[in-house]
Amino acid sequence: MDSELAGNTTDYYSLEISLKQFEKISGLVYQIAGIDLHEGKEELVKARLIKRLRHLKLSNFERYIKYLNDDKSGEELRAMVDVLTTNKTNFFRESEHLDFLRDKVIPNFGRGPIRIWSAGCSSGEEPYSIAIVLFEEIPDIAIRDIRILATDISDRMMEKARKGIYDGEAVKTLPPLLKQKYFESSYAGSRQQNKVSPMIQSMISFAKLNLMEEWPMRGPFEAIFCRNVMIYFDKPTQERLVGRFWSMLREGGYLFVGHSESLTFLKHEYRYLQPAVYQKVKPSEADQKKRAGIKGK
Ligand SMILES: C[S@@+](CC[C@H](N)C(=O)[O-])C[C@H]1O[C@@H](n2cnc3c(N)ncnc32)[C@H](O)[C@@H]1O
Repeated sequence: MDSELAGNTTDYYSLEISLKQFEKISGLVYQIAGIDLHEGKEELVKARLIKRLRHLKLSNFERYIKYLNDDKSGEELRAMVDVLTTNKTNFFRESEHLDFLRDKVIPNFGRGPIRIWSAGCSSGEEPYSIAIVLFEEIPDIAIRDIRILATDISDRMMEKARKGIYDGEAVKTLPPLLKQKYFESSYAGSRQQNKVSPMIQSMISFAKLNLMEEWPMRGPFEAIFCRNVMIYFDKPTQERLVGRFWSMLREGGYLFVGHSESLTFLKHEYRYLQPAVYQKVKPSEADQKKRAGIKGK
């Protein structure tokens, strides 16, 4: 009997996803989140969505797609996009960027408000690492107007980031002194857990935000960290995004992308500073002419 609901005996791991079903799902994910699940990602999509099928007790992908179509609340679409995001991150990841922040960005901070955006912050390790560097480097930080905005499309990640509780493995790479200073360690049963200190947490505003949609904030930001996020987008989407970041940065502000990402093949106006670090600097008249193909004397 072909039942809509899966029975206890459904072997989810033997389920197949047809090319048409894969294309339907990847099309939706692209449309909503800009994530480019191209050919070859079928197994990944299948493996991650099995969780949703099992949760909804649906016996195959055809029924899942029907469920998606019928769900007018959009809730399942959100849940689907959430499980299809890749959230790998860690404290002090690509630490050259944090060295750059310490050595080149912070020393030039003005006395006015300073805003930094971690766009695609996953479970929070990136904005917390930035906050730790700020606390380490700015002695009067308590009386300064310095804030970090940390956003991500994933509800799961936002929840974890807001909690700011990490297991021993996650904080393993942190220098012991920083761990001692900025985390409160305790035990939940036999499991060690490390909670980010309230002073660090209070500097960060976490908000769910899909980079493909309207952005409610105005900026301007001193620095935008959008690292290891654009790698999941296609070139036109990346180009649009770096252009939108441009308008959110203050003149002279910095854009950090992941080390495996680069703006080299994108149309943009940033000045390249060092691998994966760019600056918003208005091009000189000569540069503008060069770009427009007008020869100078
Ligand atoms: C690999 S993590 C990178 C985390 C952190 N920036 C780092 O470099 O360690 C990529 C994050 O981008 C988020 N993401 C993907 N598409 C997004 C979108 N359209 N809007 C906002 N966040 C998105 C994912 O949810 C994921 O948490």
